[in-house]
Amino acid sequence: MSKNRSIAVLCSGGDGPGMNAALRSVVRSAYKAGIDVYGVYKGYEGLLERSVVPLDLASVGNIIQRGGTFIYTSRSPRFMEPAHRAAAAAYLKELGVMGLIVIGGNGSFNGAHLLHKEWGMPVACIPGTIDNDIEGTEFTIGFDTATNTAVEAIDKIRDTATSHERTFLVEVMGRSAGGIAITVAITTGAEAVIFPDRNVDLSQVASAVTRGVARGKKSSIIIVAEGEKEGLGHGYQKILRETYGLDTRLCILGHIQRGGNPSARDRFLGSIMGQMAVQALHEGQTAVATVVRQGQFTLAPLVECLNKRNDFDKSLVELLDTLAL
Ligand code: F6P
Repeated sequence: MSKNRSIAVLCSGGDGPGMNAALRSVVRSAYKAGIDVYGVYKGYEGLLERSVVPLDLASVGNIIQRGGTFIYTSRSPRFMEPAHRAAAAAYLKELGVMGLIVIGGNGSFNGAHLLHKEWGMPVACIPGTIDNDIEGTEFTIGFDTATNTAVEAIDKIRDTATSHERTFLVEVMGRSAGGIAITVAITTGAEAVIFPDRNVDLSQVASAVTRGVARGKKSSIIIVAEGEKEGLGHGYQKILRETYGLDTRLCILGHIQRGGNPSARDRFLGSIMGQMAVQALHEGQTAVATVVRQGQFTLAPLVECLNKRNDFDKSLVELLDTLAL
């Protein structure tokens, strides 16, 4: 690389639409500040495999509109072991970078935190996960696109459900956070939502459907939040049939929610946060995250963003019940 100062950037964990926009912003903001950028392939695995590529202005051309991440991502269980983190830190020091930008979710943030705590590596983290479940920020890159993708799919399911006068269970991603589930439930006019990690009262779910049918509804949609394990919808389908006599079709949306062109909102988040992360390292910050708080972009100490956020505004469930009457 030609200049003295450089940084590295990686994407880690589940990908999310808008990560490419963040990468583009990192590279171009760094260029403006006279900083070179190494892209690390496949997340923390790339540090262990010493797999990096210099990123220049042209290398991030024509990617802002693309889903996924062009430098790939991975989940790296071995990075959770101190010896591997030591090897990663040694490699970063060998490269001579002044800091590492990590785009990812909660597990990725924890990896960055340890790299900083144990080896003094300056880190700036950008929240990127469709789950929107990082403590300390109201939004993560990918959530908006994933919810819109789910909404589009559920609108289609509604068409066939109405034609056949059927009830559908639609399972959406988002692990235990429930943010995707409650958002798509409200915005698709769903009849009910099931959160496997909270109290599930299937009798209420069944009566929401039968009440609707009795007043003339021609279709019903029940959103199932993914919870800790994909596929729980199968169990609910069985109970609804065997205990409540409710016949349903099940559709698990799955990874379709992680792909596709990022929404304007996610491109915007990525563009702003990429620039903020570069600026943070440039100014000598050592362990920060770019966050949205009360609608404003700001930097937060990384330690405030290490936990999973597994809640959402409970009044939204009441709103759903009211709107589904
Ligand atoms: O964390 C993002 C996410 O898409 C979750 O919603 C989902 O549970 C998980 O990743 C799936 O992970 P994988 O792609 O590794 O199966």
